[in-house]
Amino acid sequence: MSTEIIAVVNQKGGVGKTTSAVNLATAFAAVEKRTLLIDLDAQGNASTGLGFPESERVRTTYDMILGQVRLPDVIVKTGIPKLDLLPASINLSAVDVELADMSGREFVLKQQLQQALANYDYIFIDCPPSLGLLTVNALTAATAVLIPLQCEFYALEGLSHLLNTVALVQKGLNPTLSILGIALTMYDRRNRLTNEVEKDVRDCLGEQVFETVVPRNVRLSEAPSHSKPAIIYDMHCPGSRAYIFLAKEILARYTARTVAEEQAARQAAQEQATKERILQDA
Ligand SMILES: Nc1ncnc2c1ncn2[C@@H]1O[C@H](COP(=O)(O)OP(=O)(O)O)[C@@H](O)[C@H]1O
Ligand SMILES: [Mg+2]
Repeated sequence: MSTEIIAVVNQKGGVGKTTSAVNLATAFAAVEKRTLLIDLDAQGNASTGLGFPESERVRTTYDMILGQVRLPDVIVKTGIPKLDLLPASINLSAVDVELADMSGREFVLKQQLQQALANYDYIFIDCPPSLGLLTVNALTAATAVLIPLQCEFYALEGLSHLLNTVALVQKGLNPTLSILGIALTMYDRRNRLTNEVEKDVRDCLGEQVFETVVPRNVRLSEAPSHSKPAIIYDMHCPGSRAYIFLAKEILARYTARTVAEEQAARQAAQEQATKERILQDA
């Protein structure tokens, strides 16, 4: 299997990107997938949430993006088996400007990642809250996009802008980029607006929206202060259970895709064999 690289993207802050990236990466590692989480946000929340406070980050994604260190030298082992991390640092906030004049600036992450692909089954990229050069680097390096969407009034408006950016990247920089799915986050069943937004999003985007919704759950927001992903801090809380279900749903999408690809390959091989037989007989 080739490595799947999932960029967790939304240009809005506070919609659940980091919470999703950290917990999904942990869930994947828990089912024995060799997983790498890349923190590409200057806030470094994914790094802190996995137990690496700013003071303990020696080499970071900033040094890697600027080509000052090789990607393998930035990787740290988390306490979680099969889960590695590329921590971020605050200086990433200026990296857009530093990259601006560099040729091939959209491909920096993709190129650095080549050195790590053999070691991982899945790579999650926790993106910053913008559609700047760092996010474009993530979209260029990724095989798929996962969009956490908070059920609020302006959700769809921001989403069309984001989908446009994805389409532009598909056109110019990464033609094989696909949309893995949209995950509804911070879902509050008692709120009528939440239900209306969910209906709109599902009507508009159909099967691209994951069935699993992540509820608003205070345990998810407490976990980072204990330096642990929620699904380890409290595996049974509703938020953790939702992320475990979401991970299963994502893995099922990949399995379905692999089966379909294998079937198509078998069929193509059969057709080719038939063609060759006919040519031989003729
Ligand atoms: N489902 C949820 N329920 C309650 N709080 C959440 C949930 N998801 C995220 N949070 C909290 O909301 C804040 C923003 O989430 P975060 O994942 O950091 O978003 P982003 O990375 O998009 O900025 C954080 O404090 C986080 O702990
Ligand atoms: Mg974040």
